[in-house]
Amino acid sequence: MGTLPPFPPLLAAAVVFSFLSSSCFSLTSHEAAAIARRQLLNFEQHGDHVHIDIDIKIKVSNPRLATAHRALHALKRALYSDPSNFTGNWAGPDVCAYNGVLCVPSLDNASASAVASLDMNAADVAGYLPREIGLLSDLAVLHLNSNRFCGVIPEEITNMTQLYELDVSNNRLVGAFPDAVLRVPKLSYLDIRFNDFEGPIPPELFLRPYDAIFLNNNRFTSGIPDTIGRSTASVIVLANNDLGGCIPATIGQAAPTLDEFVFLNNSLTGCLPVESGLLANATVFDVSRNLLTGAIPATMDGLAKVEQLDLSHNTFTGIVPGDVCELPVLTNLSVSYNFFAGEDTQCGSVLDAKPDKSFEDEANCMGNERPMQRSAGADAAEPYLASCRRPPPARHHRCDDSSSEMPPSSLLLKSRHVQIQ
Ligand SMILES: *[C@@H]1O[C@H](CO)[C@@H](O)[C@H](O)[C@H]1NC(C)=O
Ligand SMILES: *[C@@H]1O[C@H](CO)[C@@H](O)[C@H](O)[C@H]1NC(C)=O
Ligand SMILES: *[C@@H]1O[C@H](CO)[C@@H](O)[C@H](O)[C@H]1NC(C)=O
Ligand SMILES: *[C@@H]1O[C@H](CO)[C@@H](O)[C@H](O)[C@H]1NC(C)=O
Ligand SMILES: *[C@@H]1O[C@H](CO)[C@@H](O)[C@H](O)[C@H]1NC(C)=O
Ligand SMILES: *[C@@H]1O[C@H](CO)[C@@H](O)[C@H](O)[C@H]1NC(C)=O
Repeated sequence: MGTLPPFPPLLAAAVVFSFLSSSCFSLTSHEAAAIARRQLLNFEQHGDHVHIDIDIKIKVSNPRLATAHRALHALKRALYSDPSNFTGNWAGPDVCAYNGVLCVPSLDNASASAVASLDMNAADVAGYLPREIGLLSDLAVLHLNSNRFCGVIPEEITNMTQLYELDVSNNRLVGAFPDAVLRVPKLSYLDIRFNDFEGPIPPELFLRPYDAIFLNNNRFTSGIPDTIGRSTASVIVLANNDLGGCIPATIGQAAPTLDEFVFLNNSLTGCLPVESGLLANATVFDVSRNLLTGAIPATMDGLAKVEQLDLSHNTFTGIVPGDVCELPVLTNLSVSYNFFAGEDTQCGSVLDAKPDKSFEDEANCMGNERPMQRSAGADAAEPYLASCRRPPPARHHRCDDSSSEMPPSSLLLKSRHVQIQ
């Protein structure tokens, strides 16, 4: 019922995809898998030579545009659904007039046009990325966000020697981290968020001279590579993966360029490294919804430009330091849903009363000192949410952090047991 055969015959595929084109529903996993299989078959059939049999009679005089023509028609042919007829006018020799295509004078010949940008954002097309996409070697900007591209990013993307901005976010792409992007020589903006990429983040990623790295909302695991400190990016967003492990102490080395640091919801354990406080140029520092422990390091008063500081939904303890509440340009501070026992007096007075600023500290263990705190006793229904009894330390994703507090010995035994297996 509803299952596709292992490889759908063309007819079945046509039925599936004509259904898709008449609906706005997102792809089911079966449909996504079927498209991915088509991509694989296409890769196997074509081997190394690229074979296009449509529009063969069309003569495009500029050789760059002739090559782009092959690439764009291969892409069009790899689409199974185009509900808004985005590629409807992708016909004839004038590729510069195609919807989403922008041409500029080419770098080495000002009187010849080259395809510099392909923007299919939010076109809602379904399909896969063909190998021929690599033929777009003049492309500087590739925007494919908010579509239903399935399968993998082809290796041939490394042939895009001018590519500066790659945005394939919000699609159905799968597989390991697409290593090919690391060999795109001029890439600066890498956005692969909201896909189904999985496995480890390669350490080389942070050695590339990228300005922006968006990996959020994928299925990355296996920790944050230590190389992160060597990143020259201004924005690093790793949110909503399942990375686990500690925040590397090297993070402080990224201070010269790092502006936005968003690591929320990643099962991170251990303490906030004292080196976090070296990030003097960061305006956003968000490590919320992790399993971080220990106190807020005193060095955090070094975040001289931070506007958003979110430490909420962790298991931090100790006192919220006044120096943090008094950070000069802080507008939003959240320490809620932790186990803080109190806060320095400056905190409430500096942030609480100002209408354009927000300070959240509910669900901590500050007793009657502050409103909406956890109860001191154990609550049987939701013991870790409602009471100041600390949850057991994470048994998965443990990181060696000598400064993190030792769990009770019974739990330690349990976690050893898990690790041995
Ligand atoms: C898609 O667009 C093309 C060219 O603009 C047009 O000729 C064609 O009729 C359109 N198809 C649909 C289904 O609207
Ligand atoms: C530059 O492009 C024009 C137009 O396509 C062409 O006629 C000319 O031969 C090209 N020049 C060189 C040096 O390739
Ligand atoms: C990529 O570039 C290499 C070397 O220039 C070439 O051999 C190969 O055919 C190209 N592949 C594609 C799909 O552009
Ligand atoms: C947190 O990340 C997990 C994946 O590790 C995801 O399933 C979950 O939806 C995320 N939570 C939120 C609130 O986005
Ligand atoms: C912050 O940025 C400025 C300007 O780029 C730079 O000169 C300074 O060294 C940076 N601060 C740190 C702590 O790296
Ligand atoms: C910061 O706080 C203000 C005031 O409460 C709020 O309107 C705004 O949405 C907050 N911004 C973020 C990013 O949380």
